[in-house]
Amino acid sequence: MDIDSIRADFPGLREWTYLDNAFICLYPRQVREGYDEFLDQWMNFSPKGAKTILGEWLDKANHVRGMIADFVGAAANEIALTTCTGSGLNIVINGTKWEKGDNVVFPEYEHNPMDTTMLRRYGVESRPVKVEKGRVELSDLEKAVDDRTKIVQVSQVSYVNGFRFDLKEVSDIAHDHGAKVLVDSTQALGALATDVKEEKVDLRLCGPLQVPDGACRPCVPLRQLGASR
Ligand SMILES: Cc1ncc(COP(=O)(O)O)c(C=O)c1O
Repeated sequence: MDIDSIRADFPGLREWTYLDNAFICLYPRQVREGYDEFLDQWMNFSPKGAKTILGEWLDKANHVRGMIADFVGAAANEIALTTCTGSGLNIVINGTKWEKGDNVVFPEYEHNPMDTTMLRRYGVESRPVKVEKGRVELSDLEKAVDDRTKIVQVSQVSYVNGFRFDLKEVSDIAHDHGAKVLVDSTQALGALATDVKEEKVDLRLCGPLQVPDGACRPCVPLRQLGASR
């Protein structure tokens, strides 16, 4: 791997070492080029046979879905592209059949916790698990989970301090009670090797990967989305 040539793709690194990737990451030239190509195609579109411009974009989206799937060990039809991580979370919330008395378990300080007005309306109990000295003990997580737990939500890497969960162990705890595991991999994907099958995670969110805020912040790999709908 040639680090200098990778750095050269990020004009923002000419003078600086940039550390704030978790908040807003720098743009590499490939993303700029992709945007230029997209706008050029849109402005200069001329139909080829029955093909519409939307058809071309959908082909590209399918191609990208396949690339993400290869990257995380999933199948392309398990990947959904959404506008942001929060909208992926809303898909999970709206696609789950909730009953009064169900509960959701997540660590305190989770970035987008499943503690929403919608869930309160359904009568779902939020069970935040305490974080002590920056750590979440699996035994504390386990105590919070019971047979009415629908979803256990964790970040693969905490956006607060980098704390990492052993996802296999979290999955084992959740699955023992029939709950699903929802993982926010925003700070992990691309930095840590990820294999969705090995980790036994049911649903995974990931956001902003080097596209502009509010545009099409990409990939929310939602494993087994169909199963939870
Ligand atoms: C852990 C985590 N999840 C998600 C996000 C982004 O959320 P969204 O795409 O909904 O803005 C961030 C951004 O800072 C984050 O740190």
